[in-house]
Amino acid sequence: MSHPFSLVHIEECTSTNQSVREYPPFTALCAQSQTQGRGRRGNVWASPKGGGLYFSVFLPQKPSSFLPLLTGLAVVLALKKMGAQHLFLKWPNDIFLNEKKLGGILVEQEGQHSVVGVGLNFKTPILEKSDYPLANLSEAFAPNNLPDSHFLLNGILEALSAQLEKPFLPQEWEEHALWLGKIVQLSTENGVFEGRFLKINTDGAILLDGFPQAFFSGSLRCPSFV
Ligand code: BTN
Repeated sequence: MSHPFSLVHIEECTSTNQSVREYPPFTALCAQSQTQGRGRRGNVWASPKGGGLYFSVFLPQKPSSFLPLLTGLAVVLALKKMGAQHLFLKWPNDIFLNEKKLGGILVEQEGQHSVVGVGLNFKTPILEKSDYPLANLSEAFAPNNLPDSHFLLNGILEALSAQLEKPFLPQEWEEHALWLGKIVQLSTENGVFEGRFLKINTDGAILLDGFPQAFFSGSLRCPSFV
């Protein structure tokens, strides 16, 4: 496997999204546990030892709007290449196994740099409150076929580097999209918009039938999915 990232493994840190900023660009920092793992929208990302794969990559470029989508696509392509099935991308940056959340991506900006954090569940977290049912990686693979974490990590980094070298192709992302063509509800700071999920554009923004604007952020749900 080949990729340009220098891989650093540590036992514990607050958040790999924070700690990776102390390393040179193109470092991928993977922690066995995080004491203050963070998710989108200020959520906590529970990160006990053995509970999941937690890593962040430090890139020498400002985040583009499609960077979270491109990363999700790399994760799904890598896992599928290793034999995982029933994986989907939920706009903008969640990894789903059927309609359960398997992992997520948190992109942050650090000056002229980007921090790309990926969390994937090895065990299904038990949370008091979760927006979705949750899944773990072993459910995506045939029994006893879950690759070890080094193989998973290197495969994902290889796929990420391949994605970073080419233009972002919305159609490629859409091939794995959850709820494409379905009536969805998008909750934004300007209200809730309901319409058919038509496509995403080259910026990674979502287009809903009946609305002229492309949406760059929001939380997506599908009313027909209970
Ligand atoms: C989400 O779905 O809310 C995004 C979750 C991102 C979690 C990963 S785990 C590695 C990296 N470090 C963090 O603190 N968060 C990301």
